[in-house]
Amino acid sequence: MANIVVVGTQWGDEGKGKVVDVITPHVDVVVRYQGGNNAGHTVVVGREKYVLQSIPSGILHRGCRCVVGCGVVVDPGSLIEEMESLVQRGVTLDGNLFISKNAHLIMPYHPALDRASEAKLGKRRIGTTGKGVGPAYVDKAARVGIRMADLLNEPLFREKLELNVAQKNRLLREIYDAQTFTVEEILNQYLRYAGWLAPYVTDTALLLTRWIDSGYKVLFEGAQGTMLDVDHGTYPYITSSSTTAGGAATGTGVPPTRIHGVLGVSKAYTTRVGGGPFPSEMSGAIAEHIRARGNEYGAVTGRPRRCGWFDAVVGRYAVRINGLDTVALTKLDVLDQCETIKVCTGYRYRGEILTDFPEDETVVGEAEPAYEELEGWGASTRGAKNEADLPAKARRYLERLEELLGVPFCLISTGAQRDETILCEDSPLLRWFPSVRSSLL
Ligand code: IMP
Repeated sequence: MANIVVVGTQWGDEGKGKVVDVITPHVDVVVRYQGGNNAGHTVVVGREKYVLQSIPSGILHRGCRCVVGCGVVVDPGSLIEEMESLVQRGVTLDGNLFISKNAHLIMPYHPALDRASEAKLGKRRIGTTGKGVGPAYVDKAARVGIRMADLLNEPLFREKLELNVAQKNRLLREIYDAQTFTVEEILNQYLRYAGWLAPYVTDTALLLTRWIDSGYKVLFEGAQGTMLDVDHGTYPYITSSSTTAGGAATGTGVPPTRIHGVLGVSKAYTTRVGGGPFPSEMSGAIAEHIRARGNEYGAVTGRPRRCGWFDAVVGRYAVRINGLDTVALTKLDVLDQCETIKVCTGYRYRGEILTDFPEDETVVGEAEPAYEELEGWGASTRGAKNEADLPAKARRYLERLEELLGVPFCLISTGAQRDETILCEDSPLLRWFPSVRSSLL
């Protein structure tokens, strides 16, 4: 039996969707525990490309039960669109999708507040996805949020909506000089959503515990990445949820004692969308090259991603904060044509070299990367399925990263397809799911 958490170790977009997709045939349940439709998990199956936003990517596997946990914020309109598009492509949702009664709703005033707040922040803007995720978590913490269960109770929903609309309209009008909302408009729209979603809404914490009691294996699918965590990320340039492994317990109601391991997903380089410090950021031709080869454009917003070298300071921090047992490294093939490859091993700060990630906004902002340079391998690794098929210099790069992180790699991804994946020798993944070996042969 193994219940494991999969988390991003950088600023999101590490390729978690593919890694979860590779592991899913070996588990019974996949659960999302935080974030909302700010996430975009891209999965390529044959010629088909899916971008999942709120629904766990396990839904693409027949028979896998997928749960949207209480820590997720749900935009019902966007969720229904996602559900409809999956149904049109032949995916069965009934009996496979379960949504927590306690998940908070993203309401129409949340994206409006998100955009208005960003506009006011000027050069300190966060560069959010504009989906209203931050303001929805604000309401949750302020104890005025509206939850999935409220949506199914019309009188209660109306009461909470009236309170919120009155409050948000004042904010929008008086602070932000922005458009306001009417209760009736939102009520009519959301009651239609309620009809659609009701069959899927349930006490998912209870369901998950019962499933675990009966021996089901659960995969907790993190969204975004460690450095965007509300507590442990590069605050305030973060998302508003607990993206790190600890969030898997609070965001689902499954206690930490029933979780057996944590797998981190890292890209072979680094990217970040939105504002905020990024010590190993590249510029010029090399950044253009990586962005083009890695198709580094936001899955949700289409924004070009900022690109940088692999940052081992960030990597080690992710190992510590999440308690990573192992790391899956993605997009190795994107580096195939680089003559030299840099790895950030420390930060120079006022005459010192820092090797522990500094939890201080100004230090991270001023830190200069200290790089180690490795020779590129100048050959294609695309689609490689065995470590032995990799050029010696690519293997050297992997060994060096493992050494710097202090945990072993379990998978190396060499392309977007499911089978473009190397299962590492003595992969820790085999301890949890021995059958992974036969499925990746
Ligand atoms: P928000 O989550 O929309 O509030 O955005 C806050 C920060 O998190 C911004 O820098 C976004 O670009 C970033 N962000 C949110 N979701 C993702 C994601 O799925 N991948 C990468 N960055 C994200």
